[in-house]
Amino acid sequence: LTAGVADDRIEGLLEEFPDHPEPGVVFRDLSALYAQPGLLAGLAARVDEEFGGAYDRVLAVESRGFVLGAALAARTGTPLTLARKPGKLPGPVHSADYSLEYGMDRLELRKSAIAPGERVLCVDDVLATGGTLAAAAQLVRDSGAEVAGMAVVLELAGLGGRDRLSSHRLAALCEVPA
Ligand code: PRP
Ligand code: MG
Repeated sequence: LTAGVADDRIEGLLEEFPDHPEPGVVFRDLSALYAQPGLLAGLAARVDEEFGGAYDRVLAVESRGFVLGAALAARTGTPLTLARKPGKLPGPVHSADYSLEYGMDRLELRKSAIAPGERVLCVDDVLATGGTLAAAAQLVRDSGAEVAGMAVVLELAGLGGRDRLSSHRLAALCEVPA
């Protein structure tokens, strides 16, 4: 199996776009990471090392959380569930509203997707204010399940995300100032 990738290798491949998608926001693009042969597998390996299989399901957050979430689920043979943006999922859903660095949004999860009592690892690409992962955690709790932890590729420090999620075990593979 692929070995984990180092923090400084991740940091070296980040691309910054000031004032995208609006003035004052620095957009961190991870495309160059995903384009490196084998690197995505190395990201999943790092998360796998951090949590040592102590979860029953991966919950990946639309859109950009799908990348690492799917890679981790495939690596570990863990069931994968997708938390989606509003209106995408059929049937009864749990929903959680949250505020974002730039605007409001909502995540939804099929009510039948997660069994009560399961230990669920919530996965996204970037942690900024923590609103998105807090909403994902809410969906897990609404399902009667337990948040086993949270994992992101990149933590933007200084936006309060880690404090907001302090009741959870949180693994960030790389951290940079916001
Ligand atoms: C971005 C990023 C994280 C979230 C982090 O997603 O992919 O999901 O913001 O911000 P937060 O910690 O302040 O909540 P975005 O909502 O832009 O949507 P996308 O993944 O569909 O591109
Ligand atoms: Mg996102």
